[in-house]
Amino acid sequence: MSKTNSNSKTVFVHVQRFNPDVDKKAYIKEYSVEVTPDTTILDALHEIKTHQDGTLTFRRSCRHAICGSCAMNVNGTNLLVCNTPIHSMLDRKNKITVKPLPYLPIIKDLVVDRHQFWTQYQRVKPWLIPMEDVPEKEFRISPEEIAELNKAETCIMCGACYSACTVVGTSKSYIGPHALLKGFLRVMDPRDSAPGERLIELGTSEGIYRCHTIFNCIDACPKNLDPTKAIETLRNIASKRKKFEESRLERQKTINDPVPVEKAKGS
Ligand code: F3S
Ligand code: FES
Repeated sequence: MSKTNSNSKTVFVHVQRFNPDVDKKAYIKEYSVEVTPDTTILDALHEIKTHQDGTLTFRRSCRHAICGSCAMNVNGTNLLVCNTPIHSMLDRKNKITVKPLPYLPIIKDLVVDRHQFWTQYQRVKPWLIPMEDVPEKEFRISPEEIAELNKAETCIMCGACYSACTVVGTSKSYIGPHALLKGFLRVMDPRDSAPGERLIELGTSEGIYRCHTIFNCIDACPKNLDPTKAIETLRNIASKRKKFEESRLERQKTINDPVPVEKAKGS
């Protein structure tokens, strides 16, 4: 990428730098980089680190929008830098500004401390709590519910939604959209044995009722997921928790106890 070609041009990457060992506060440093139409923001950061300033520190791993480690704040928007072409974010002066994710402590330069993010995630018990008695046949779930679950399952835990939420910025105790989306996934999963307990835990003032429906989480999600809708669904279910639990049990029973043929035919 350091070689120029007819498609290349020079852009200006403003990067927030901060080394807690030597700096009193963060500052912006400008780098000029030669890019082509294919260059991603991550490519540009690599170019800087490899050829201009080896001290620049950032996280990345997969480079394919799968691992979630490269989420950063670019021109005020949280996104994955590995799948964002630098051209799409340049201003009229061919400049972009790259900063670490907001609301999280900075370890160095573009690397943030995600401890709080993972602590909140653990609070929702993101794992499946299996039933002791599984149905003889399959678990019952509608195609619409499966579609919702499959979508929520594609979350890569990049933290873009969490650090875009202004409630997170003011309240460290808020569980956050990433963890509430996972909570939604587990509550809606018919294989899970503890939807009632989960709804009680999620239904506190640090959970679904702390969300102010700000929608930043939707805008920030690089996978186009909708944590707000998941939170709203959880609120609806939490308000009729007992009924929800009963109807789930009832639904699973019917598959082991099929509707008689005459009744199914409406006779
Ligand atoms: Fe935050 Fe999203 Fe709710 S941005 S306040 S979790 S709608
Ligand atoms: Fe893995 Fe960007 S490097 S999501």
